[in-house]
Amino acid sequence: MPTIHISHLMKQYGSRVILRDVSLSIPKGQIYGFIGPSGAGKTTLVKMMVGMDTPDAGQLYVLGEQMPNMSVLSKIGYMAQSDALYPELSGLENIQFFTELYSLSKARQKERIAYAAELVGLSSDLQRKVSTYSGGMKRRLSLAISLVHDPEILILDEPTVGIDPKLRQIIWQELIRLKDEKQKTIIVTTHVMDEAQRCDCLAMVREGQILAEGAPDALKTSYQVETLEEIFLQTGGVHDENV
Ligand SMILES: Nc1ncnc2c1ncn2[C@@H]1O[C@H](COP(=O)(O)OP(=O)(O)O)[C@@H](O)[C@H]1O
Ligand SMILES: [Mg+2]
Repeated sequence: MPTIHISHLMKQYGSRVILRDVSLSIPKGQIYGFIGPSGAGKTTLVKMMVGMDTPDAGQLYVLGEQMPNMSVLSKIGYMAQSDALYPELSGLENIQFFTELYSLSKARQKERIAYAAELVGLSSDLQRKVSTYSGGMKRRLSLAISLVHDPEILILDEPTVGIDPKLRQIIWQELIRLKDEKQKTIIVTTHVMDEAQRCDCLAMVREGQILAEGAPDALKTSYQVETLEEIFLQTGGVHDENV
């Protein structure tokens, strides 16, 4: 059973078709990336995987269950594209708030919070109010929160926007370790080509459709190009690093 299975998914907002006919399967223990221009439908698609939006047609199963499903939700760590944090609380209080939602022992909570804060380089800023955090720090806190309950599936919507290259490197090393050593399934959306290159499988999304799917190197071979960027351009994507 694939971790995520989607077939003929459709979504419209009013008369506008956002997702056309999306079918894909994501096996356990992969890093699966969605890349595509702003407005392509990436966020809409990952929101459906966490049951925050419902398809108009088609099927979507996560761990064999149709979403939203409570027991599956506790196995997903979701990092939204815009941070959902409490600005008047400290970083620590924010993480604790979300950690309370899961049935972890006090000792385990403490251990997981320490791990997640350390990973994103926020250990020494946890006492500060989130309203004093920079945009990048808020992204890092959101990432820590998505990881805190040690979920089987991580769904990260543009996780490294506003994060400096060194920390981005550390975060990617950890994502790869979580996949290799703990068989986590990790789904990311990204605008950044070097991140796309690190995915096991990549789906290029444009106008609500998957135009190409495969391992980064296999995609390059089949399109007879040297870089992912060229495939992106060939499939009609307008690559915009600034979005
Ligand atoms: N709640 C909504 N109501 C109407 N249109 C929406 C809504 N959410 C997203 N859209 C539209 O759907 C399209 C795809 O958006 P999105 O999934 O956020 O794309 P991406 O994440 O690839 O940038 C965009 O044109 C966006 O304006
Ligand atoms: Mg998006």
